[in-house]
Amino acid sequence: MIKDFQKIEFLKSLYSDKDLISFRGNFLKNNSNRKFSLRSFIIKLLPMLKDKKILDIGCGDGSFLNKLHTVYPQNKYFGLDVVDNAKCHKLKFLDYKIYDGKSRVYYTEKFDVIFCMHTVYHIEDLFTFFTTMKDYLKPHGIIIITTKSKLTFPKIESIFLKIVGKLDLKKYLKISKHREESKFCLENGLNRLKKHFARRSFSINEYVLETQVFVNDKKDLLKYVFSTNRYNILKDTLNKKIVEKYTKLWFEEIDKDQIFIDKYTEAVYLIKKL
Ligand SMILES: C[S@@+](CC[C@H](N)C(=O)[O-])C[C@H]1O[C@@H](n2cnc3c(N)ncnc32)[C@H](O)[C@@H]1O
Repeated sequence: MIKDFQKIEFLKSLYSDKDLISFRGNFLKNNSNRKFSLRSFIIKLLPMLKDKKILDIGCGDGSFLNKLHTVYPQNKYFGLDVVDNAKCHKLKFLDYKIYDGKSRVYYTEKFDVIFCMHTVYHIEDLFTFFTTMKDYLKPHGIIIITTKSKLTFPKIESIFLKIVGKLDLKKYLKISKHREESKFCLENGLNRLKKHFARRSFSINEYVLETQVFVNDKKDLLKYVFSTNRYNILKDTLNKKIVEKYTKLWFEEIDKDQIFIDKYTEAVYLIKKL
């Protein structure tokens, strides 16, 4: 299923679902064996943030800034996204803006820290996007970009490919070789960033976080799987029978083990303006 990962209408269908972002975040939190979440790791990585201006591009439901705000209440927080999320409007400390993903949003002030987490793979024109980001940044400012490995959840991916083969799904659907996130992922992220953030002006550090997930609740697991764009064929095919078979095969596959174990890998890039 090659879906247009950059089109706003498609992004709305993915992210305006009120609780999808928090469901997916909670699923990982509740079933992973790591002590620090990606977000806690990032908060530990950063220097003390007091009296700073902080922007989150692709802020989703605002939950990261909300967490950061509880640790550091004395900052100005700005959130930007292409999809409106009601939760952000409730965050009184947040200056929240929605834009079309193309035209530049003007801010009167520059930022000390800019976050862009699990969002860059949605960006079509990286040159314009990163140029804007650099313009937004103060001297000695910091950018945090995160993404996934294209090999995240290898077991889920191999079950998917097995089912695709069994049902001959490629006859009905266009299925890309990798998940859509592979447009900007651990495997190509650093090189892409080096092209846009010149060495003479920026330092870039890469951190890789590997996490195992152990899932007992198979229904929750399937909900997670089907909330992943690549594995959600329901939107693509009107053939009810195929969808039924597809769902049944997933149930059978993940029921083979008492506890489903898989791993996911994420990357954090810390970019500092020198
Ligand atoms: C996977 S979610 C990540 C949300 C949040 N950063 C997090 O880590 O939970 C990707 C977010 O990027 C947003 N997005 C996609 N394209 C964008 C763009 N061009 N500018 C800003 N946000 C964008 C989506 O609407 C969505 O909220």
